Amino acid sequence: MKQSEGSTSHGRDDRVLDVRGLCTRYGTSQVLFNVDLHVPSHGSVAVLGRNGAGKTTLLKSIVGEVKPFRGAVAVRGRECTAAHTEQLVRLGLGYVPQDQAVFGGLTVAENLRVGAMGAPRGSGTMDQVLAMFPKLGRRLSQRAATLSGGERKMLAIGRALLSDPALLLLDEPTEGVWIAVVEEIAERLIALAQTRSVLLVEQHVDLALRVADYAYVLERGHIVLHGPSDEIRHHPDLYRYLAP
Ligand SMILES: Nc1ncnc2c1ncn2[C@@H]1O[C@H](COP(=O)(O)OP(=O)(O)OP(=O)(O)O)[C@@H](O)[C@H]1O
Ligand SMILES: [Mg+2]
Repeated sequence: MKQSEGSTSHGRDDRVLDVRGLCTRYGTSQVLFNVDLHVPSHGSVAVLGRNGAGKTTLLKSIVGEVKPFRGAVAVRGRECTAAHTEQLVRLGLGYVPQDQAVFGGLTVAENLRVGAMGAPRGSGTMDQVLAMFPKLGRRLSQRAATLSGGERKMLAIGRALLSDPALLLLDEPTEGVWIAVVEEIAERLIALAQTRSVLLVEQHVDLALRVADYAYVLERGHIVLHGPSDEIRHHPDLYRYLAP
């Protein structure tokens, strides 16, 4: 385990995501400072940090929604800094944003159909998604705006799965979800992480460290701690970095 702002590595060459020296700002306010982060092809990674640490900005910088002013992003070895969404989907990247991840005016079925459109690898199917989230199957004709918070999160994840991404980026998939449903989503995420790589941003630290086998801690845009989840869980500084 390392406690630094320097280079970070799993010591593995097979990386599905490679983020190097990423620096992002909004106007004159810099939010990310030289972020190095890697996701191995057969592993899942958590990003932890208190509110405003820069977690969402990191994911947005990876998917090109926000343009970093320095640094590089590679997906499966392909350079794709600030790439277009279609290119990232082709490379096998799926993204569930923190907000507005579903179309409220469309039904559950329509949202899933939109997710299936432009699904290049083609093997993610509606049946698989409904097997994973049976609650959605009972609400196919319901408008997404009328779903509970937990159901909306499930729909957003299910929609992203329809492109069968090799790497799924999830920004707070349990935010605003009733605590009993958090565990239900946690179990699905653990199962998901067996089938593909996941980069998970989560406020529920225990959940994140159960899903991911490696974790990074962001503080004010700097990676201050990273290591295997089992070690991060017991790190004496962890809760100091996460305390509000
Ligand atoms: N579009 C924007 N314009 C200006 N500042 C922004 C913008 N988006 C985010 N910020 C600022 O950048 C910082 C990091 O925000 P970000 O949303 O990345 O944090 P976060 O770690 O995801 O927080 P949370 O846990 O609350 O979701 C915050 O200070 C935020 O106010
Ligand atoms: Mg956020």
